[in-house]
Parts: sequence; structure tokens; C-alpha cells
Amino acid sequence: MNKRIVLGITGASGSIFGIKVFESLHQLGFEIHLIISKPGEKVIKMENNLTTSYFQKKGIYIYSPDEIEAPISSGSFKNIGMVIAPCSMATLGAIANGVGNNLIHRAADVTLKEKRKLILLIRETPLNEIHIKNMLKIARAGGVIMPACPAFYNKPKTIDDLVTHLTSRVLDQLGIDNNLTQRWEKE
Ligand SMILES: Cc1cc2nc3c(=O)[nH]c(=O)nc-3n(C[C@H](O)[C@H](O)[C@H](O)COP(=O)(O)O)c2cc1C
Repeated sequence: MNKRIVLGITGASGSIFGIKVFESLHQLGFEIHLIISKPGEKVIKMENNLTTSYFQKKGIYIYSPDEIEAPISSGSFKNIGMVIAPCSMATLGAIANGVGNNLIHRAADVTLKEKRKLILLIRETPLNEIHIKNMLKIARAGGVIMPACPAFYNKPKTIDDLVTHLTSRVLDQLGIDNNLTQRWEKE
């Protein structure tokens, strides 16, 4: 399997989801091409007290959202797909409407046109009609809408348990074998 993946982190709450997806893919040896939006940077700082330097590790390529000339802007850049975690309603709207004027939106647009896997871990509540219509547009275009909505059936005890479980489901969607959490089995 090609081990290249594109990861976007936007300014929705729940930046811990993006961090966990990043850490899990990094541990599994993926070549991560990471873009963090400016609001994303602010929310990561507010919620986790981290800066972009945290993500500067071996095998990680970090782009600024205005670096539209980056390789991930082109469909010719082969990768297994793109995750946006968390995905704000602003980014959801931009993707749903084909607006490619920052690198996250453009890379997502390219992912859809190349028929690669696009996973949006959206976070907002409640949802208005515009959000729901945008989700439907993306689902119809082949994207996967995953609400950042943890499960409780495996009796989580910590926030990390909740976040790890959802991260495992994201990796499942990408077809990446993982044993991050225990899978459901009827007792
Ligand atoms: C602390 C904080 C939490 C936010 N939470 C959300 C959220 O959960 N969902 C959302 O859609 N926007 C949220 N926003 C607003 C987005 O950051 C804002 O719409 C921004 O323009 C998104 O841009 P981006 O998609 O380029 O990151 C939040 C903003 C802040 C400061």
C-alpha cells in the first residue's frame, strides 16, 4: 500500500481528534502531508496548548494553507486519501461548493476528483439546513462524512479512550489495519 496521506486540521473544536489521527498515522509509518488552517492553529493552541512545531517530525511535510503550489494541489500526487479532522462548517461549505482557494479546500477537491477517499470528521452542533445540504453534496460526490461523535458501547473511561475509538474508525475508513481499540463483541 502507498503510505502517503494528506491530513487537514481546521478551526473546529476537537483539535485533539486531528492530533490523534496524526499521531496514529505517524506511528504506523505513514508519510503525512499536513495542512493546518490559521483558525486551526489558534484552536490547537487554545485546546491543547500546542503549536505547529509539535508536528515537525520525521516523514511529515507541513504546508501553509496559502501554499497553493504544493504537490498535494495536483491530482498527479499519488496518495491513499485525505482526512480533515476536525472539519469546520466553513471548510465543509468550501469543499461542498468547489471553492479551492486555500490548500485544504484544493487538496480535498483534488481528492474527490481523483476518486480517492476523503474523510471529513465534522464538528458542529446543532446543524442548520446549510450544513446538512453541504454534507449531502459531499456524500453524493463520494466523500465520507464522519461526525466527531464518539461511541460509548466499549465503556470509555478517559477522553483519550473516546478520541482513540473514533480515530480507529477513521483508519478503518481508509482501509488501514489497526488495533487502536477493542472492537465490539457481544458479551
Ligand atoms: C474556540 C473555537 C471553537 C470553534 N469551534 C467550531 C466548531 O466546532 N465547528 C465549526 O464549524 N467552527 C468552529 N469554530 C469557528 C471556526 O474556527 C471558523 O469558522 C473558521 O473560520 C474556520 O476556518 P477553517 O475551516 O479555515 O479552519 C470555532 C472557533 C473557535 C475560536
